[in-house]
Amino acid sequence: MSQTTRVLTGITTTGTPHLGNYVGAIRPAIEHSRAPGVDSFFFLADYHALIKCEDPARIERSRLEIAATWLAAGLDPDRVTFYRQSDIPEIAELTWLLTCVTAKGLMNRAHAYKAAVDANLAAGEDADAAVTMGLYSYPILMAADILMFNAHRVPVGRDQVQHIEMARDVAQRFNHLFGRGRGFFVLPEAVVDEAVATLPGLDGRKMSKSYDNTIPLFDGGAKGLKNAIARIVTDSLEPGQPKDPSSNALLTLFEAFAGRDDSAAFADDLRGGLGWGEAKQRLFERIDGALAPMRERYEALIARPGDIEDVLQAGAAKARAVATPLLAQLREAVGLRRMHNAPAASSAPSADAPAKAAVPVFKQYREADGRFHFKLLDGEGRLLLHSAGFDAPREAGQRVAAIKAGGFQGADEAVALGEGVSVAEVTAALAALAAHEAEKKARA
Ligand code: TRP
Repeated sequence: MSQTTRVLTGITTTGTPHLGNYVGAIRPAIEHSRAPGVDSFFFLADYHALIKCEDPARIERSRLEIAATWLAAGLDPDRVTFYRQSDIPEIAELTWLLTCVTAKGLMNRAHAYKAAVDANLAAGEDADAAVTMGLYSYPILMAADILMFNAHRVPVGRDQVQHIEMARDVAQRFNHLFGRGRGFFVLPEAVVDEAVATLPGLDGRKMSKSYDNTIPLFDGGAKGLKNAIARIVTDSLEPGQPKDPSSNALLTLFEAFAGRDDSAAFADDLRGGLGWGEAKQRLFERIDGALAPMRERYEALIARPGDIEDVLQAGAAKARAVATPLLAQLREAVGLRRMHNAPAASSAPSADAPAKAAVPVFKQYREADGRFHFKLLDGEGRLLLHSAGFDAPREAGQRVAAIKAGGFQGADEAVALGEGVSVAEVTAALAALAAHEAEKKARA
């Protein structure tokens, strides 16, 4: 079997996808995901979205629309791993591990941050006005996205290449510090697809939300598409007059949805005097022919957000199957370890007189009212559990035995948790106690 290449890319979930996003990113990414030997990871970068957007409703809506768009456009969630960044807590944790090895100076050089500083200075503001730590550390979160899954290739726009280089830097630093020669992280490579043309917008400039020149993908249905195309800026030549096909966005938009022959015929017709109105009608029919079936799937998906949620949850489970074991190794590598096998601290007595580990303990006692109680204390004497009064010591003892044998599921009339104590803490204490007793028995 040939080796597979892991390809990973994130989609920031602000806004609604437009035609330029589809042609420039979504369509090629889905095509590549179908190639043999490619293991694709696609995710909704919703932690990233929080950096730019403080409107919860918009975050929620955009995640839904973008997930529905990718699925409607043909992404096969059984073939690829399609998930939401915020469903993978390991990414947030890895971000911190990486943050601790990332030079501040590296982040100072990030384009997005520098652009914000430049804009502030130009406006006579403080250099860091309105710059959050989220914006500043953005490249570290992105590095965690990529390194968490050991992606080899990361398809991105040109503006993101620097972030991939930073991810390599951070990965190298972590590998060097903690990798002990073996290295935890693959060094990712940015892939900028030269073949994919950037789509022009209504005014002929690159289609972009910031230029307000976009053509909607599904928004507004066929009518929305038609209306947008009607607004494409052309000169005022009349039907019958020869036109320059490169004088506006029509031909490039047409080419994005047509083969070479059809495109050449369209250009010839314009040179031969085809009117702009009719040319726009042909362009509309061409694009709508491609989008209509997807739009129908999109509408069906959007109407059932619960189904999309299920798809994303299944994707998160697949992604975490990769992330959880890797993060466990990373925690171990940096020293965030369980203490069972820890070397004894230097202040502890020597090995022939091993320090007595502080073991949790059950204590039974009688209150002034004459009734019999018990409590569970942890090694430091913190109250984990305490009981109500029993009539006989035997009853209290039986209840203790039952908890030791069967664990503690939650408070009831007879047994309550100590203040601020969780069931998980009790479970851990019971495990420690059981281990201690087993060891004692083995030694006896
Ligand atoms: N920052 C990317 C963008 O704005 C989105 C993104 C987030 C991403 N994490 C990523 C892309 C990881 C590739 C890999 O386009």
